[in-house]
Amino acid sequence: MRLARAEDLPAIKKVHQRALGPGRYALTAYRVREGTPPISDFCQVAECGKHLLAAVRFTPASIGGQHGALLLGPIAVDPDHLNRGLGRALIDAGIAKARERGAQLILLVGDSSYYGRLGFSPVPPGQIKFPGPVNPARILAMELVAGALTRLTGELRASESLG
Ligand SMILES: CC(C)(COP(=O)(O)OP(=O)(O)OC[C@H]1O[C@@H](n2cnc3c(N)ncnc32)[C@H](O)[C@@H]1OP(=O)(O)O)[C@@H](O)C(=O)NCCC(=O)NCCS
Repeated sequence: MRLARAEDLPAIKKVHQRALGPGRYALTAYRVREGTPPISDFCQVAECGKHLLAAVRFTPASIGGQHGALLLGPIAVDPDHLNRGLGRALIDAGIAKARERGAQLILLVGDSSYYGRLGFSPVPPGQIKFPGPVNPARILAMELVAGALTRLTGELRASESLG
């Protein structure tokens, strides 16, 4: 596991194509990230030799105008390398970096059956507003600072940094 670099972008795109397919751009989470740099200080990749096998993006975001959140996603693991712990390892590495840099909350839209095991819990419906339709049951978060989820409420917007 290591931090992503600008030169990883072509290989990250390939993993996205293979793992997520063309429908990915329609997801509301993509709308939040639109216009932000594709690689932040928190993005991670997993490699084997020179081959990039998996990647996760984290985008700094504000909620209700308050900074300190990171939006996790997309995460993609090459279909030939699933179920080997790469997804979990990428997320754990991102969380460690987020803690180190003082992030308060990690937010994502995804399956609670997968992310629940990694420590994410459902966000109370209506608390965080996305710029488009999202299934409220799929909005999940992990507090890195106790009480962050109670403090951060309102509209979700990408921001340049953790603030
Ligand atoms: C979701 C994903 C990142 C998981 O990566 P991975 O490296 O295979 O996952 P891990 O090895 O950390 O964990 C594997 C476990 O998670 C389970 N799992 C994988 N996807 C799951 C899902 N959507 N819901 C519930 N469980 C899931 C596996 O069955 C396996 O369970 P086991 O440990 O009981 O055998 C990967 O399947 C992927 O890239 N999927 C396509 C892209 C995608 O859906 N991304 C998320 C939306 S942005």
